[in-house]
Amino acid sequence: MIYIPQKIKSIVGGQKPGTDSVGMSRARVLLYEKMVLKVEEESEETVHEAQALGWLQGRLPVPKVICHESHEKMSYLLMSRLPGTMACDKLLMGDPERLTAILARGLEMLWQVQTQDCPFDSGLDRKLEMARYQVEHDLVDVDDAEPDTFGEGRFRDPRELLAWLEQNRPEEDPVFSHGDYCLPNIFVEDGRISGFIDLGKAGIADRYQDIALCYRSLEHNYRGKYRGGKDVGGFCPDRLFAHLGIEPDREKIRYYILLDELF
Ligand SMILES: Nc1ncnc2c1ncn2[C@@H]1O[C@H](COP(=O)(O)OP(=O)(O)OP(=O)(O)O)[C@@H](O)[C@H]1O
Ligand SMILES: [Mg+2]
Repeated sequence: MIYIPQKIKSIVGGQKPGTDSVGMSRARVLLYEKMVLKVEEESEETVHEAQALGWLQGRLPVPKVICHESHEKMSYLLMSRLPGTMACDKLLMGDPERLTAILARGLEMLWQVQTQDCPFDSGLDRKLEMARYQVEHDLVDVDDAEPDTFGEGRFRDPRELLAWLEQNRPEEDPVFSHGDYCLPNIFVEDGRISGFIDLGKAGIADRYQDIALCYRSLEHNYRGKYRGGKDVGGFCPDRLFAHLGIEPDREKIRYYILLDELF
């Protein structure tokens, strides 16, 4: 049985929650009819997520924070439940062209957020500083990396990758960035984005932070990397660029995917 702070118990009442099985972090997510409780170890990211959700009210469709409590180094974030389904939902995945168009619109929604008064910096100075912390404290999960990141003829270890990232910083084109723009973090209803979740890394960052992770997430989901996924022959994640109307900067895509390996 999971501990739930009294204040949150009194809000959710006697409801029996369902649990989520998609998330990859150590978070436990309890799904109530209209609310969601995310329980995880307290960190800079859990504090950031609650603050970002607050700042984004009225700027983007995101859950409302109902109550955020901390108890014995655990964070308890009770928020409203978004309508719709995750972008990795089977039905949505069944029409890759349409799904890619929806995800491109989602990126454009993020880029429309005015950044002048955004208090969250997720730019490279900060990301590389956080990446250094991860490396120096042995927190990088090498087994979770893309198959071509580490190994013979590739990066020897996270330390070598970090050095490369520090020496090969691309110029930044700052926009409001989600920070972890992958399919399970985007909700869709009636063919439109109904909301964004998992905003612990959100803030001002290069446009390619989100393009790169969206591209990687499309690739993973369509190549059947995840449970229940299947390889959809003929679908090419490059369609994302067509829907965004851009010529992709492949080097930046590679850079931001590599950077994410350290988190
Ligand atoms: N407000 C919400 N409304 C609806 N569903 C939610 C909400 N918050 C979380 N969920 C569900 O729980 C899942 C996990 O939540 P979240 O993405 O915040 O954590 P996580 O996936 O464990 O973290 P990470 O993506 O870093 O691994 C989501 O993919 C979604 O299915
Ligand atoms: Mg998530």
